[in-house]
Amino acid sequence: MKLGSEEHKTLFCRNFIESHLTYEPEQLSWPQLDDITLSRLRAIPFWRQALDTERRAGAMVAAFVETVDDPLIRQAIALQGQEESRHARLIQTLVKQYHIDLPTPSPIALPLHISADFAAFGFGECLDSFFAFGLFSLAGQADFFPDSLFTLFDPILSEEARHIVFFVNWFTYEQINHGWGLPPLRAARTLWHYSRAIRKLIAAFGGADTGGARFAATDAGLFAKNLTAEKFLTLCLKENQRRMRQFDPNLLQPKLLPQLAAVSLRILQLMPRRRPRQTIEGVS
Ligand SMILES: [Fe+2]
Ligand SMILES: [Fe+2]
Repeated sequence: MKLGSEEHKTLFCRNFIESHLTYEPEQLSWPQLDDITLSRLRAIPFWRQALDTERRAGAMVAAFVETVDDPLIRQAIALQGQEESRHARLIQTLVKQYHIDLPTPSPIALPLHISADFAAFGFGECLDSFFAFGLFSLAGQADFFPDSLFTLFDPILSEEARHIVFFVNWFTYEQINHGWGLPPLRAARTLWHYSRAIRKLIAAFGGADTGGARFAATDAGLFAKNLTAEKFLTLCLKENQRRMRQFDPNLLQPKLLPQLAAVSLRILQLMPRRRPRQTIEGVS
C-alpha cells in the first residue's frame, strides 16, 4: 500500500470508524466503592485538568470537522469528536457518582487557527497517550482501584490509541497530498511538531501551566511508592506495544516517543543503580 493513496485513506478511516464503540457513560454500571477507594479517587489531583482537556478536545475536534471536505475523513474525525466529548462525560459522570469536589468548569475558548490546533493536539496526544498507557497499567498493578472501575476506564485508553494511530496516518496522508510528500520534508515537519509538544511536556515536568493534559507522566509517583523512571518507562513501552498490536500492520504508528523512551531506558540501565534522582517522585 502506498502512503497518501486512496487505499491508505480508506484503510485508516475504515479502521477507525469500524472500531468505534457504542456506549453511554451515564448508563454504565458504576460500582459501589469502599471508603479507602473513595478517598483515593477524591485525592487524585488531575480530574479538573483531565475534564477541561477532554471538553476542549471535543469542542475543538467538532469545530475542525466543519473544515474537512473529504466525506470519509470527515466521518472519521466527527466520530473522534464524539469520543472526546464522551470522555468528558465519563469523567463528569464519575465526579458526580463519587462526589468528587470540582470547581464549576470554565467556558471553552476555541482557537482562531483550528487546523493548526488540531495538528498540535494530535502530536500532543501521541505523547500523552504513551505515558497514560503506562500510568493506567501502573495503577492496575498497584491495585489502586478495583477491577470494576478499571474496566470502565479502559475504553478511554483504547480510544486514545485509535486517535493517535488515526492522527499519524491522517497527518502523513495530508502532507503527501499537499506538497510535503518528500520523506525528508515530512520528517522535518513531524519533528517540528513533536519538538513543540515535547517542549510543553518538559514545561509540565517543571510545574508550568501548559493548559494541556500533561498529567500522566508527572503524576506517576502517585500510584506506586519508590517508582523509578526505569520501571515507569519499561511499563510505558510494554503497554504501548500491547495497545499498538491491535492495529493493522499496514497503518503507521506513533514512533518518536517509544524510540526516545527506549534510548532513555537503555541509558538508565547503564547508569549505576539506586540513584535518588532516578525516581519519578524526584522528577515531579
Ligand atoms: Fe480523549
Ligand atoms: Fe483523543
